Amino acid sequence: MIHPHSRFNIFRETLVLILTLVITIEVPVVLVFNIHLHGLLAVLDIIISLVFAADIILNFLTGYEQDNRVVMDFSRIAKRYLKKWFWIDLVATVPFGLIFQGLPFLQAGRLPKLLRLLRLTRLLRLLRIAQFILRINSTNILKPGTLRLISLVFWITYAVHFIACGWIVLGGNPNGLDNLSLYIRALYWTVTTVTTIGYGDIIPHTNEQTLYVIVIEIIGAGMYGFIIANIANLITNIDVAKSQYRDKIEKINIFMKYKNIPADLQKNVNDYYSYLWESRRGYVEASVLQDLPISLKTRISLFINRDMVAKVPIFQGASDEFIREILLNLEATVFTPGDIIVRKGEIGFDMFFISKGSVDVVSEDGSIIYATLASAQFFGEIALLFSTPRTATIRAREYCDLYRLDKEIFDSVLERYPDFEAKIRDYARQRKAELNS
Ligand code: CMP
Repeated sequence: MIHPHSRFNIFRETLVLILTLVITIEVPVVLVFNIHLHGLLAVLDIIISLVFAADIILNFLTGYEQDNRVVMDFSRIAKRYLKKWFWIDLVATVPFGLIFQGLPFLQAGRLPKLLRLLRLTRLLRLLRIAQFILRINSTNILKPGTLRLISLVFWITYAVHFIACGWIVLGGNPNGLDNLSLYIRALYWTVTTVTTIGYGDIIPHTNEQTLYVIVIEIIGAGMYGFIIANIANLITNIDVAKSQYRDKIEKINIFMKYKNIPADLQKNVNDYYSYLWESRRGYVEASVLQDLPISLKTRISLFINRDMVAKVPIFQGASDEFIREILLNLEATVFTPGDIIVRKGEIGFDMFFISKGSVDVVSEDGSIIYATLASAQFFGEIALLFSTPRTATIRAREYCDLYRLDKEIFDSVLERYPDFEAKIRDYARQRKAELNS
Protein backbone atom coordinates (compact mmCIF):
# COMPACT_ATOMS: atom_id res chain seq x y z
CA MET A 1 0.00 0.00 0.00
CA ILE A 2 1.12 3.57 -0.71
CA HIS A 3 1.01 6.31 1.92
CA PRO A 4 -0.87 9.42 0.64
CA HIS A 5 1.91 11.70 1.90
CA SER A 6 4.77 9.67 0.42
CA ARG A 7 7.13 11.28 -2.09
CA PHE A 8 6.07 8.79 -4.72
CA ASN A 9 2.43 9.72 -4.30
CA ILE A 10 3.15 13.45 -4.51
CA PHE A 11 5.17 12.83 -7.69
CA ARG A 12 2.37 10.71 -9.18
CA GLU A 13 -0.31 13.29 -8.38
CA THR A 14 1.79 16.10 -9.86
CA LEU A 15 2.43 14.13 -13.05
CA VAL A 16 -1.25 13.25 -13.45
CA LEU A 17 -2.20 16.87 -12.80
CA ILE A 18 0.18 18.19 -15.48
CA LEU A 19 -1.03 15.62 -18.03
CA THR A 20 -4.63 16.47 -17.15
CA LEU A 21 -3.94 20.13 -17.86
CA VAL A 22 -2.35 19.23 -21.19
CA ILE A 23 -5.12 16.91 -22.32
CA THR A 24 -8.03 19.10 -21.27
CA ILE A 25 -6.58 22.01 -23.24
CA GLU A 26 -5.67 19.79 -26.20
CA VAL A 27 -8.89 17.84 -26.66
CA PRO A 28 -11.15 20.76 -27.69
CA VAL A 29 -8.42 22.05 -30.04
CA VAL A 30 -8.06 18.67 -31.74
CA LEU A 31 -11.83 18.43 -32.11
CA VAL A 32 -12.36 21.96 -33.38
CA PHE A 33 -9.61 21.87 -35.97
CA ASN A 34 -10.37 18.23 -36.81
CA ILE A 35 -6.71 17.38 -36.29
CA HIS A 36 -5.69 13.87 -37.26
CA LEU A 37 -3.91 12.24 -34.30
CA HIS A 38 -0.55 11.07 -35.60
CA GLY A 39 3.14 11.36 -34.75
CA LEU A 40 3.81 13.22 -31.50
CA LEU A 41 0.13 13.86 -30.80
CA ALA A 42 -0.72 10.16 -31.05
CA VAL A 43 2.25 9.24 -28.82
CA LEU A 44 1.14 11.86 -26.28
CA ASP A 45 -2.41 10.48 -26.35
CA ILE A 46 -1.15 6.94 -25.75
CA ILE A 47 1.20 8.04 -22.95
CA ILE A 48 -1.60 9.98 -21.25
CA SER A 49 -3.95 6.99 -21.48
CA LEU A 50 -1.29 4.70 -20.03
CA VAL A 51 -0.50 7.08 -17.18
CA PHE A 52 -4.20 7.53 -16.43
CA ALA A 53 -4.68 3.73 -16.46
CA ALA A 54 -1.73 3.26 -14.08
CA ASP A 55 -3.20 6.04 -11.96
CA ILE A 56 -6.45 4.08 -11.64
CA ILE A 57 -4.56 1.00 -10.39
CA LEU A 58 -2.49 3.11 -7.97
CA ASN A 59 -5.64 4.76 -6.65
CA PHE A 60 -6.72 1.32 -5.41
CA LEU A 61 -3.42 1.01 -3.56
CA THR A 62 -3.12 4.48 -2.07
CA GLY A 63 -4.39 5.27 1.42
CA TYR A 64 -6.52 8.29 2.22
CA GLU A 65 -6.98 10.59 5.15
CA GLN A 66 -10.13 10.58 7.23
CA ASP A 67 -10.69 12.27 10.57
CA ASN A 68 -6.98 12.97 10.91
CA ARG A 69 -6.09 9.31 10.33
CA VAL A 70 -4.62 7.63 7.30
CA VAL A 71 -6.71 4.69 6.13
CA MET A 72 -4.51 2.01 4.52
CA ASP A 73 -7.04 -0.80 4.39
CA PHE A 74 -7.43 -2.08 0.82
CA SER A 75 -11.12 -2.94 0.99
CA ARG A 76 -12.07 0.46 2.44
CA ILE A 77 -9.91 2.26 -0.13
CA ALA A 78 -11.44 0.25 -2.99
CA LYS A 79 -15.00 0.77 -1.77
CA ARG A 80 -14.49 4.49 -1.50
CA TYR A 81 -12.83 4.75 -4.92
CA LEU A 82 -15.44 2.59 -6.64
CA LYS A 83 -18.23 4.74 -5.26
CA LYS A 84 -17.43 7.70 -7.52
CA TRP A 85 -14.02 8.58 -8.87
CA PHE A 86 -13.23 5.20 -10.40
CA TRP A 87 -15.95 5.58 -13.05
CA ILE A 88 -15.00 9.14 -13.86
CA ASP A 89 -11.31 8.19 -14.13
CA LEU A 90 -12.15 5.12 -16.20
CA VAL A 91 -14.23 6.98 -18.79
CA ALA A 92 -11.61 9.75 -19.01
CA THR A 93 -8.86 7.20 -19.59
CA VAL A 94 -10.23 5.55 -22.74
CA PRO A 95 -8.48 7.09 -25.79
CA PHE A 96 -11.67 7.45 -27.84
CA GLY A 97 -9.88 9.69 -30.35
CA LEU A 98 -7.29 7.07 -31.27
CA ILE A 99 -9.78 4.19 -31.19
CA PHE A 100 -12.21 5.78 -33.64
CA GLN A 101 -9.41 6.99 -35.83
CA GLY A 102 -8.00 3.46 -36.01
CA LEU A 103 -11.26 1.80 -36.96
CA PRO A 104 -11.36 1.42 -40.75
CA PHE A 105 -15.08 2.15 -41.07
CA LEU A 106 -14.76 5.32 -39.04
CA GLN A 107 -11.83 7.07 -40.73
CA ALA A 108 -11.01 10.56 -39.42
CA GLY A 109 -12.82 12.58 -42.00
CA ARG A 110 -15.94 10.50 -41.97
CA LEU A 111 -16.20 10.18 -38.22
CA PRO A 112 -19.82 10.85 -37.24
CA LYS A 113 -19.94 14.09 -35.26
CA LEU A 114 -21.63 12.58 -32.23
CA LEU A 115 -18.98 9.86 -31.90
CA ARG A 116 -16.21 12.43 -32.20
CA LEU A 117 -17.71 14.23 -29.24
CA LEU A 118 -16.90 11.16 -27.13
CA ARG A 119 -13.36 12.52 -27.03
CA LEU A 120 -14.69 15.20 -24.72
CA THR A 121 -14.94 12.54 -21.99
CA ARG A 122 -11.30 13.42 -21.29
CA LEU A 123 -12.64 16.71 -19.90
CA LEU A 124 -14.16 14.76 -17.00
CA ARG A 125 -10.68 14.95 -15.56
CA LEU A 126 -11.36 18.64 -14.90
CA LEU A 127 -13.36 17.42 -11.90
CA ARG A 128 -10.11 15.98 -10.58
CA ILE A 129 -8.49 19.41 -10.84
CA ALA A 130 -11.40 20.93 -8.91
CA GLN A 131 -10.94 18.25 -6.25
CA PHE A 132 -7.20 18.93 -6.14
CA ILE A 133 -7.80 22.66 -5.56
CA LEU A 134 -10.22 21.83 -2.71
CA ARG A 135 -7.60 19.58 -1.16
CA ILE A 136 -4.87 22.23 -1.38
CA ASN A 137 -7.31 24.63 0.26
CA SER A 138 -7.63 22.40 3.30
CA THR A 139 -3.88 21.92 3.73
CA ASN A 140 -2.98 25.56 4.39
CA ILE A 141 0.04 25.33 2.02
CA LEU A 142 -1.03 28.47 0.19
CA LYS A 143 -2.71 31.54 1.67
CA PRO A 144 -6.48 31.26 0.99
CA GLY A 145 -6.37 34.55 -0.96
CA THR A 146 -3.52 33.36 -3.20
CA LEU A 147 -5.24 30.05 -3.89
CA ARG A 148 -8.50 31.80 -4.75
CA LEU A 149 -6.67 34.11 -7.16
CA ILE A 150 -4.91 31.16 -8.83
CA SER A 151 -8.12 29.14 -9.20
CA LEU A 152 -10.02 32.19 -10.49
CA VAL A 153 -7.42 32.80 -13.21
CA PHE A 154 -7.32 29.07 -13.93
CA TRP A 155 -11.07 28.57 -14.42
CA ILE A 156 -11.48 31.82 -16.37
CA THR A 157 -8.67 30.72 -18.71
CA TYR A 158 -10.43 27.39 -19.27
CA ALA A 159 -13.80 29.06 -19.84
CA VAL A 160 -12.30 31.47 -22.38
CA HIS A 161 -10.55 28.59 -24.15
CA PHE A 162 -13.75 26.54 -24.41
CA ILE A 163 -15.89 29.47 -25.53
CA ALA A 164 -13.30 30.35 -28.22
CA CYS A 165 -13.34 26.73 -29.44
CA GLY A 166 -17.15 26.82 -29.60
CA TRP A 167 -16.98 30.00 -31.70
CA ILE A 168 -14.61 28.34 -34.18
CA VAL A 169 -16.90 25.28 -34.47
CA LEU A 170 -19.87 27.46 -35.36
CA GLY A 171 -18.02 30.07 -37.41
CA GLY A 172 -15.77 27.87 -39.49
CA ASN A 173 -12.94 29.58 -41.32
CA PRO A 174 -14.49 31.94 -43.90
CA ASN A 175 -11.29 33.97 -44.40
CA GLY A 176 -9.09 30.92 -44.87
CA LEU A 177 -6.84 31.74 -41.91
CA ASP A 178 -4.28 29.28 -40.57
CA ASN A 179 -5.25 27.45 -37.36
CA LEU A 180 -3.19 29.66 -35.05
CA SER A 181 -4.57 32.94 -36.43
CA LEU A 182 -8.08 31.52 -36.33
CA TYR A 183 -7.66 30.52 -32.70
CA ILE A 184 -6.17 33.89 -31.72
CA ARG A 185 -9.06 35.72 -33.38
CA ALA A 186 -11.55 33.45 -31.58
CA LEU A 187 -9.81 34.17 -28.27
CA TYR A 188 -9.95 37.89 -29.03
CA TRP A 189 -13.67 37.67 -29.81
CA THR A 190 -14.30 35.72 -26.60
CA VAL A 191 -12.44 38.13 -24.35
CA THR A 192 -14.05 41.23 -25.85
CA THR A 193 -17.50 39.62 -25.55
CA VAL A 194 -17.08 38.21 -22.05
CA THR A 195 -15.70 41.49 -20.72
CA THR A 196 -18.72 43.21 -22.35
CA ILE A 197 -16.40 45.41 -24.45
CA GLY A 198 -17.73 43.96 -27.74
CA TYR A 199 -16.05 46.08 -30.44
CA GLY A 200 -18.25 44.44 -33.05
CA ASP A 201 -15.36 43.93 -35.50
CA ILE A 202 -15.91 40.15 -35.47
CA ILE A 203 -19.60 39.44 -35.94
CA PRO A 204 -21.75 36.31 -36.27
CA HIS A 205 -22.64 35.24 -39.80
CA THR A 206 -25.00 32.31 -39.36
CA ASN A 207 -28.09 31.81 -37.20
CA GLU A 208 -26.26 29.31 -34.99
CA GLN A 209 -23.45 31.77 -34.44
CA THR A 210 -25.87 34.58 -33.62
CA LEU A 211 -27.62 32.39 -31.06
CA TYR A 212 -24.21 31.39 -29.67
CA VAL A 213 -23.29 35.07 -29.29
CA ILE A 214 -26.53 35.75 -27.42
CA VAL A 215 -25.89 32.88 -25.01
CA ILE A 216 -22.24 33.84 -24.48
CA GLU A 217 -23.19 37.48 -23.94
CA ILE A 218 -25.60 36.46 -21.19
CA ILE A 219 -23.12 34.04 -19.62
CA GLY A 220 -20.38 36.64 -20.16
CA ALA A 221 -22.27 39.29 -18.21
CA GLY A 222 -22.48 36.87 -15.28
CA MET A 223 -18.85 35.86 -15.69
CA TYR A 224 -17.71 39.46 -15.83
CA GLY A 225 -19.67 40.27 -12.66
CA PHE A 226 -18.20 37.19 -11.03
CA ILE A 227 -14.64 38.22 -11.95
CA ILE A 228 -15.08 41.80 -10.75
CA ALA A 229 -16.73 40.67 -7.49
CA ASN A 230 -13.97 38.15 -6.87
CA ILE A 231 -11.18 40.59 -7.61
CA ALA A 232 -12.74 43.23 -5.33
CA ASN A 233 -13.11 40.61 -2.62
CA LEU A 234 -9.54 39.40 -3.09
CA ILE A 235 -8.13 42.91 -2.85
CA THR A 236 -10.00 43.68 0.39
CA ASN A 237 -9.00 40.30 1.83
CA ILE A 238 -5.34 40.27 0.78
CA ASP A 239 -4.49 40.58 4.43
CA VAL A 240 -7.52 39.71 6.53
CA ALA A 241 -5.67 40.15 9.80
CA LYS A 242 -4.55 43.66 8.87
CA SER A 243 -7.99 44.79 7.69
CA GLN A 244 -9.69 43.42 10.83
CA TYR A 245 -7.05 45.14 12.93
CA ARG A 246 -7.54 48.44 11.11
CA ASP A 247 -11.30 48.14 11.60
CA LYS A 248 -10.86 47.62 15.30
CA ILE A 249 -8.55 50.64 15.70
CA GLU A 250 -10.86 52.83 13.64
CA LYS A 251 -13.85 51.91 15.82
CA ILE A 252 -12.07 52.49 19.11
CA ASN A 253 -10.62 55.80 17.89
CA ILE A 254 -14.04 57.07 16.84
CA PHE A 255 -15.43 55.98 20.21
CA MET A 256 -12.63 57.75 22.13
CA LYS A 257 -13.10 60.97 20.15
CA TYR A 258 -16.85 60.84 20.74
CA LYS A 259 -16.30 60.38 24.48
CA ASN A 260 -13.64 63.14 24.61
CA ILE A 261 -10.99 60.80 26.06
CA PRO A 262 -7.76 62.76 26.86
CA ALA A 263 -5.18 62.73 24.08
CA ASP A 264 -2.47 60.92 26.10
CA LEU A 265 -4.87 58.14 27.02
CA GLN A 266 -5.87 57.86 23.36
CA LYS A 267 -2.19 57.56 22.52
CA ASN A 268 -1.78 54.79 25.09
CA VAL A 269 -4.66 52.86 23.52
CA ASN A 270 -3.15 53.24 20.05
CA ASP A 271 0.28 52.20 21.31
CA TYR A 272 -1.30 49.13 22.86
CA TYR A 273 -2.86 48.15 19.53
CA SER A 274 0.46 48.73 17.77
CA TYR A 275 2.06 46.37 20.29
CA LEU A 276 -0.68 43.78 19.68
CA TRP A 277 0.00 44.04 15.94
CA GLU A 278 3.78 43.82 16.29
CA SER A 279 3.72 40.94 18.74
CA ARG A 280 0.83 38.79 17.44
CA ARG A 281 -0.64 40.32 14.30
CA GLY A 282 -3.48 41.83 16.31
CA TYR A 283 -4.88 38.53 17.54
CA VAL A 284 -5.75 38.04 21.17
CA GLU A 285 -4.91 34.44 22.05
CA ALA A 286 -7.97 33.65 24.16
CA SER A 287 -10.51 34.81 21.58
CA VAL A 288 -8.74 33.19 18.59
CA LEU A 289 -8.59 29.82 20.30
CA GLN A 290 -11.96 29.88 22.04
CA ASP A 291 -13.78 27.75 19.46
CA LEU A 292 -11.20 24.97 19.47
CA PRO A 293 -11.77 21.73 21.37
CA ILE A 294 -9.73 21.36 24.57
CA SER A 295 -7.30 18.84 23.05
CA LEU A 296 -6.29 21.18 20.21
CA LYS A 297 -6.23 24.19 22.52
CA THR A 298 -3.82 22.36 24.84
CA ARG A 299 -1.55 21.36 21.98
CA ILE A 300 -1.42 24.91 20.66
CA SER A 301 -0.82 26.30 24.18
CA LEU A 302 1.96 23.79 24.72
CA PHE A 303 3.57 24.82 21.46
CA ILE A 304 3.21 28.57 22.00
CA ASN A 305 4.51 28.39 25.57
CA ARG A 306 7.15 25.72 25.11
CA ASP A 307 9.99 28.19 25.74
CA MET A 308 8.39 29.62 28.85
CA VAL A 309 7.55 26.19 30.27
CA ALA A 310 11.11 25.04 29.67
CA LYS A 311 12.49 28.05 31.58
CA VAL A 312 10.07 28.47 34.53
CA PRO A 313 11.96 26.91 37.46
CA ILE A 314 8.89 25.55 39.25
CA PHE A 315 7.84 23.69 36.09
CA GLN A 316 11.19 21.95 35.82
CA GLY A 317 10.81 18.21 36.21
CA ALA A 318 7.02 18.47 36.48
CA SER A 319 4.82 15.82 34.88
CA ASP A 320 3.24 16.42 31.45
CA GLU A 321 -0.16 16.11 33.08
CA PHE A 322 0.58 18.91 35.51
CA ILE A 323 1.95 21.23 32.82
CA ARG A 324 -1.04 20.52 30.60
CA GLU A 325 -3.46 21.35 33.38
CA ILE A 326 -1.68 24.59 34.25
CA LEU A 327 -1.38 25.69 30.61
CA LEU A 328 -5.03 25.02 29.90
CA ASN A 329 -6.05 27.25 32.77
CA LEU A 330 -3.69 30.13 32.05
CA GLU A 331 -5.30 33.26 30.72
CA ALA A 332 -3.14 35.44 28.45
CA THR A 333 -3.15 39.14 29.35
CA VAL A 334 -1.18 42.17 28.23
CA PHE A 335 -0.04 45.07 30.40
CA THR A 336 1.28 48.36 29.12
CA PRO A 337 4.38 50.16 30.47
CA GLY A 338 3.83 51.64 33.95
CA ASP A 339 0.67 49.57 34.66
CA ILE A 340 0.25 48.46 38.28
CA ILE A 341 -0.47 44.73 38.00
CA VAL A 342 -0.59 43.92 41.71
CA ARG A 343 -0.93 46.48 44.49
CA LYS A 344 0.59 46.07 47.97
CA GLY A 345 -2.00 45.41 50.69
CA GLU A 346 -4.75 44.24 48.36
CA ILE A 347 -6.28 40.78 48.55
CA GLY A 348 -4.86 38.43 45.94
CA PHE A 349 -7.05 36.41 43.63
CA ASP A 350 -4.43 35.35 41.10
CA MET A 351 -0.76 34.84 40.32
CA PHE A 352 1.12 35.60 37.10
CA PHE A 353 3.79 34.03 34.87
CA ILE A 354 5.83 36.36 32.66
CA SER A 355 5.96 35.23 29.05
CA LYS A 356 7.51 38.41 27.61
CA GLY A 357 8.65 41.71 29.10
CA SER A 358 9.71 42.60 32.64
CA VAL A 359 8.19 43.98 35.86
CA ASP A 360 9.50 45.73 38.97
CA VAL A 361 8.68 44.56 42.51
CA VAL A 362 8.29 47.91 44.28
CA SER A 363 7.23 49.49 47.58
CA GLU A 364 3.72 50.85 48.04
CA ASP A 365 4.64 54.37 46.84
CA GLY A 366 6.77 52.94 44.04
CA SER A 367 9.97 54.65 45.22
CA ILE A 368 11.95 51.52 46.18
CA ILE A 369 12.60 48.74 43.70
CA TYR A 370 13.13 45.43 45.52
CA ALA A 371 13.63 43.26 42.48
CA THR A 372 13.03 43.02 38.75
CA LEU A 373 11.39 39.94 37.30
CA ALA A 374 11.61 39.00 33.61
CA SER A 375 10.49 36.34 31.16
CA ALA A 376 9.85 32.86 32.69
CA GLN A 377 9.55 34.21 36.24
CA PHE A 378 6.35 34.51 38.27
CA PHE A 379 4.80 36.66 40.98
CA GLY A 380 1.68 36.97 43.14
CA GLU A 381 2.10 33.57 44.76
CA ILE A 382 2.64 34.78 48.35
CA ALA A 383 -0.87 36.16 48.86
CA LEU A 384 -2.37 32.94 47.49
CA LEU A 385 -0.20 30.56 49.54
CA PHE A 386 -0.40 32.29 52.91
CA SER A 387 -3.79 34.01 52.52
CA THR A 388 -2.20 37.36 53.30
CA PRO A 389 -2.53 40.74 51.57
CA ARG A 390 -0.12 41.40 48.70
CA THR A 391 3.37 41.91 50.08
CA ALA A 392 4.56 44.31 47.37
CA THR A 393 3.41 46.27 44.33
CA ILE A 394 4.24 44.97 40.85
CA ARG A 395 4.70 47.52 38.07
CA ALA A 396 5.21 46.77 34.37
CA ARG A 397 8.51 48.15 33.03
CA GLU A 398 7.46 47.69 29.40
CA TYR A 399 4.76 45.90 27.42
CA CYS A 400 4.30 42.58 29.19
CA ASP A 401 2.70 39.36 27.99
CA LEU A 402 1.59 37.63 31.14
CA TYR A 403 -0.33 34.48 31.95
CA ARG A 404 -2.78 34.75 34.80
CA LEU A 405 -3.62 31.76 37.00
CA ASP A 406 -6.79 31.99 39.08
CA LYS A 407 -6.67 31.34 42.87
CA GLU A 408 -9.25 28.55 42.72
CA ILE A 409 -7.29 26.64 40.12
CA PHE A 410 -4.04 27.38 41.94
CA ASP A 411 -5.50 25.84 45.14
CA SER A 412 -6.84 22.77 43.41
CA VAL A 413 -3.55 22.17 41.58
CA LEU A 414 -1.62 22.63 44.81
CA GLU A 415 -3.75 19.99 46.51
CA ARG A 416 -3.07 17.40 43.84
CA TYR A 417 0.59 18.12 43.12
CA PRO A 418 2.52 18.31 46.42
CA ASP A 419 5.87 18.59 44.59
CA PHE A 420 4.71 21.81 43.02
CA GLU A 421 3.47 23.09 46.38
CA ALA A 422 6.81 22.41 48.03
CA LYS A 423 8.74 24.20 45.28
CA ILE A 424 6.56 27.28 45.19
CA ARG A 425 6.48 27.51 48.99
CA ASP A 426 10.29 27.58 49.00
CA TYR A 427 10.28 30.49 46.58
CA ALA A 428 7.61 32.36 48.55
CA ARG A 429 9.45 31.94 51.87
CA GLN A 430 12.68 33.15 50.37
CA ARG A 431 11.02 36.19 48.82
CA LYS A 432 9.21 37.05 52.03
CA ALA A 433 12.48 36.83 53.92
CA GLU A 434 14.15 39.10 51.37
CA LEU A 435 11.34 41.62 51.71
CA ASN A 436 11.53 41.59 55.50
CA SER A 437 15.26 42.05 55.50
P1 CMP B 1 2.24 38.68 46.52
O1 CMP B 1 2.55 39.08 47.88
O2 CMP B 1 1.01 37.91 46.25
O3 CMP B 1 2.21 40.00 45.60
C1 CMP B 1 3.42 40.71 45.39
C2 CMP B 1 4.43 39.78 44.84
O4 CMP B 1 5.72 40.28 44.65
C3 CMP B 1 4.64 38.61 45.77
O5 CMP B 1 3.47 37.89 45.91
C4 CMP B 1 5.83 37.97 45.18
O6 CMP B 1 5.46 37.15 44.12
C5 CMP B 1 6.58 39.16 44.61
N1 CMP B 1 7.74 39.46 45.45
C6 CMP B 1 7.76 39.91 46.69
N2 CMP B 1 9.02 40.05 47.12
C7 CMP B 1 9.84 39.68 46.16
C8 CMP B 1 11.27 39.59 46.02
N3 CMP B 1 12.07 39.94 46.97
N4 CMP B 1 11.74 39.13 44.85
C9 CMP B 1 10.93 38.79 43.85
N5 CMP B 1 9.59 38.86 43.96
C10 CMP B 1 9.04 39.29 45.09
